[in-house]
Amino acid sequence: MSIKKPVPDIPQPIHFTLDGKDIEAFAGQTIMEACDAQGIYIPRLCDAEGLNVQGSCRVCSVKMNGRVVAACTQPLEDEATIENATEEVESYRKDLVSMLFHEGNHLCPICEASGRCELQAMAYRFGMIEDTNYPYLQPVRPVDASHPDIALDNNRCILCGRCIRASRDIDQKNIFEYVGRGIHKRIAVDGDCLADTAASIDDAAMSLAVCPVGCIIRKREGFFAPVGTREFDQNNIGATIESPSSITRDPNRIAVRHIDPIAHKHLSKDTKDKGPAS
Ligand code: SF4
Ligand code: SF4
Ligand code: FES
Repeated sequence: MSIKKPVPDIPQPIHFTLDGKDIEAFAGQTIMEACDAQGIYIPRLCDAEGLNVQGSCRVCSVKMNGRVVAACTQPLEDEATIENATEEVESYRKDLVSMLFHEGNHLCPICEASGRCELQAMAYRFGMIEDTNYPYLQPVRPVDASHPDIALDNNRCILCGRCIRASRDIDQKNIFEYVGRGIHKRIAVDGDCLADTAASIDDAAMSLAVCPVGCIIRKREGFFAPVGTREFDQNNIGATIESPSSITRDPNRIAVRHIDPIAHKHLSKDTKDKGPAS
């Protein structure tokens, strides 16, 4: 009887075009993974490094062979034609981001996430500086400040589910879940309030890298970076992919954008010990 030798797992090269440019990738990569590897940023909100993909915000939409798909979940097809930075695709993404502002209550000048908020940074990237045609829904949403170290302001939640995945897959706690439907859908916690749960300030789900907006608030750490030194004051969203060598990072002031519980603990310790950076 012959013994089968293991077949080496060699990635199979494939090709696709992105806005007319020929690009090499590997079979099995998503469109977003292949573009990231080439230094091409595709906007995203529900996707974050270190988390399982969810594919819900659709901000990463592109057209593959004429069909709108989510770049974060869609595997590349060999010889695919992808439209990314076209007027049509960018207008679609911009509408989605606009609607997130109109569905919640966003008062950026008094929000501690201002300057490091991915929603705000995306709006700036898209040049959204004028009023839109959508009505502001101004929903009445709960704020849960029961926990000694963490607060939850649902007014700013964009339902990206990053906290759900971080709590479930990294912390293995399942603190967060979706409840309700349609415009009443919101994030709830595994208990009557946050203080009733096993939530800890050291959970990966509570790190600055997880909530892209100012919904999960780390108490006593607000406004830790002065205006001008906040993450997106210095770098456009997407700069870590488009121009990583030009990124300015001060680990005491700027959120670590990959989910590393060790780095996260260092960040929380530094900011607590030193207080607001001056
Ligand atoms: S969460 Fe972001 S978009 Fe919303 S108010 Fe805060 S800074 Fe502005
Ligand atoms: S609390 Fe933050 S991380 Fe969780 S769903 Fe809302 S916006 Fe996303
Ligand atoms: S980043 Fe792809 S759907 Fe949200």
